[in-house]
Amino acid sequence: MAITKVAIAGGTGNLGPAIVKALLDADFEVTLLTRSTLDEQDPRTKIEVVDYDSLDSLTKALAGQDALVSVLGYGTIPEEIHLRVVDAAYKAGLQRVIPSEFGSDTTHPLVAQLPVLAGKIALLKHLQELAEEDKAFTWTAVFNGPFLDWGLKENFILDLQGPVTPIYNGGDVLFSTTTRDGIAQAVVGVLKHPDETKNRPVFVAETEISQNQLLQMSGQAHVISIESVRTEDLEQRAMDALQRTPPDHHLFAKNMIWRAIFSRDHGNQFLQLDNELLGVRELDEAEVIEIVKQNCS
Ligand SMILES: NC(=O)c1ccc[n+]([C@@H]2O[C@H](COP(=O)([O-])OP(=O)(O)OC[C@H]3O[C@@H](n4cnc5c(N)ncnc54)[C@H](OP(=O)(O)O)[C@@H]3O)[C@@H](O)[C@H]2O)c1
Repeated sequence: MAITKVAIAGGTGNLGPAIVKALLDADFEVTLLTRSTLDEQDPRTKIEVVDYDSLDSLTKALAGQDALVSVLGYGTIPEEIHLRVVDAAYKAGLQRVIPSEFGSDTTHPLVAQLPVLAGKIALLKHLQELAEEDKAFTWTAVFNGPFLDWGLKENFILDLQGPVTPIYNGGDVLFSTTTRDGIAQAVVGVLKHPDETKNRPVFVAETEISQNQLLQMSGQAHVISIESVRTEDLEQRAMDALQRTPPDHHLFAKNMIWRAIFSRDHGNQFLQLDNELLGVRELDEAEVIEIVKQNCS
């Protein structure tokens, strides 16, 4: 059955607003689940204030929806909340859930070993079990690599803030990457193609790029000091972050995710893309340069 009513959980964070906008522009009826009353939202959006600790509250908010997109953050938001939101979608009889993945391919065996992603993997397993139990309940996971625009702005895929710029495994490792608008288009594409995307991951990328290419495009290659980092050392760095007083969970998570992005063997250069099916366009070089210039200060 066609999907027209879409609820989004966590639509006010880093990724959510791009998805809300793309869903509205594609004429879906959008309901935003949030913890508190929101002032500045598109008037086409329906707001549902929910208690994420209550299955009842979530189930009531999801009643009558066709699909749920979760963009709840990881690390900050307890894993039981991610599971509860999915259970509520199941209980409310939704036909599709897009869980809060939106990064590395967590079905890749090496990525799956990284402890920081255990919550996402457990959630996907839970979705698969529910979809087995009730064939009308389905899921799609969106894998898009690191966010290109946000990853540059936040110094996550290229850190030009100094004092040194970490370059992983020589900097020539290609990885698939997508802007938040590109990911939003992928979500729209999934919901417009429910049959083709049923119970499987989809892979999208707007470009494949290396850190050295990004560095060249930034025009700052000559002014920065490079720190060469081997990705096999990142898991130890992650563990060291936990030994700090107080433990630095954020740094732990970042090191683990860099391990997934910049290692040649962790599958972050996607081999087969669903771009065409989902309407995600590949960026040309000039567009990538523009994104780099806009987001690298
Ligand atoms: N590939 C990448 O480079 C990359 C980068 C960033 C994130 N991601 C992934 O994208 C997904 C979404 O991440 P995000 O960064 O957009 O999420 P986020 O900004 O951390 O959180 C999204 C929303 O969750 C809601 N929320 C509900 N309970 C919360 C709680 N207890 N504490 C804080 N917020 C709570 C908040 O909305 P309300 O205040 O309206 O309730 C918040 O705006 C995650 O799966 C994340 O791993 C991937």
